Amino acid sequence: MKLPTLLTMCAITTVSADEPLRKLADAHGIKIGAAVKGRLMSDERYTAVLAREFNAVTPENDLKFERVQPERGKFTFELADGIVAFAEKNGMAVRGHAFVWHRQQPAWIMNGEFSKDEWREILETHIRTVGTRYRGKIVQWDVVNEAIDDQTHGLRESVWLKALGPEYIEIAFRAAHAADPEARLFYNDYSGEGLGKKSDAIYELARDLKARGVPIHGIGLQMHLTEKPPTIGAMRTNMDRLIELGLEVAVTEMDVRLKTPATEAQLAWQAECYRDVLALCMEKKRSGTFVLWGFTDRYSWVPTAFKGTGAALIFDENFSPKPAYQALAGQLRRDESLSKAHPHSP
Ligand code: G3I
Repeated sequence: MKLPTLLTMCAITTVSADEPLRKLADAHGIKIGAAVKGRLMSDERYTAVLAREFNAVTPENDLKFERVQPERGKFTFELADGIVAFAEKNGMAVRGHAFVWHRQQPAWIMNGEFSKDEWREILETHIRTVGTRYRGKIVQWDVVNEAIDDQTHGLRESVWLKALGPEYIEIAFRAAHAADPEARLFYNDYSGEGLGKKSDAIYELARDLKARGVPIHGIGLQMHLTEKPPTIGAMRTNMDRLIELGLEVAVTEMDVRLKTPATEAQLAWQAECYRDVLALCMEKKRSGTFVLWGFTDRYSWVPTAFKGTGAALIFDENFSPKPAYQALAGQLRRDESLSKAHPHSP
């Protein structure tokens, strides 16, 4: 449990309910967001916290291929439309997630047998149809998600790699840019936050795409942290090298999972993790997006995916703010005067 270093000596400020995170973040030009589930948008307790605290949302599942195009040519936008309408009504930005991924794809893609030309047409049609529907409404898109293999650190053997070769990545970015020329386009991945073979591979991919004039604007660092996260120093070095390529860097899916039941000491440590990562984003002018993968432990993906762990978010299962919430608010208040003069991108 080494991560908290920057600010461990500072007391975590208690905030009052009339200073929600989004108001504090606005003062820095920071988008503070949460992944949301479309099926919960009719739950008033859920949406009240969401609208009060966040100025950005990411559909957690409702823009993925299996949801949006479950059958070839049959598009379903109901849940995603609901999230986008909620965001518009409440003055929130939307991150789109994700055009191309190896998971959550429908059977007709997973078992599909098409010619190379047909595969290309399928990919381009999907991105064009979804991208143009939300043109001007989605500010950032995860165009390609998790394309690097964890063992080889080459490209993952996905349906898309088999169908189209490495060019699928470039095809996807170009199609996304054509669909919405104003949207900021991201490559998004996990376990590439610090320094190591995976983040080197992400860096090389980004460098190559930039060098070849492919319209990529940013790298999404998912930030699914465990109790052994990379150091803040390693994250800073990694962010700096990506920013030097001319890219934005976004924290796109942050959560910090703990062994459950979590102790007070673990929750305090977790709070420092959240605060240190936000502080790092605030330090950089090109990292003004900080999105959590959910906001309440009630609906987090973590306990299902990693048995015996959970408590990963900033509100507990009853929507009460945790120490991590107070830590983020405290960090946003602490540096307000400092960063007002240097609003973040985008
Ligand atoms: O939609 C079906 C529903 O019809 C069915 O009744 C139910 C039964 O289990 O399953 C539902 O699908 C689930 C889906 O979430 C929607 O709730 C899947 O089982 C479940 O596996 C799926 O999990 C999602 C996971 O991606 C899939 O890989 C998580 O909610 C989602 O948080 C997670 O998000 C990913 C990001 O997209 C990429 N980065 C990592 C992150 C965490 O894995």
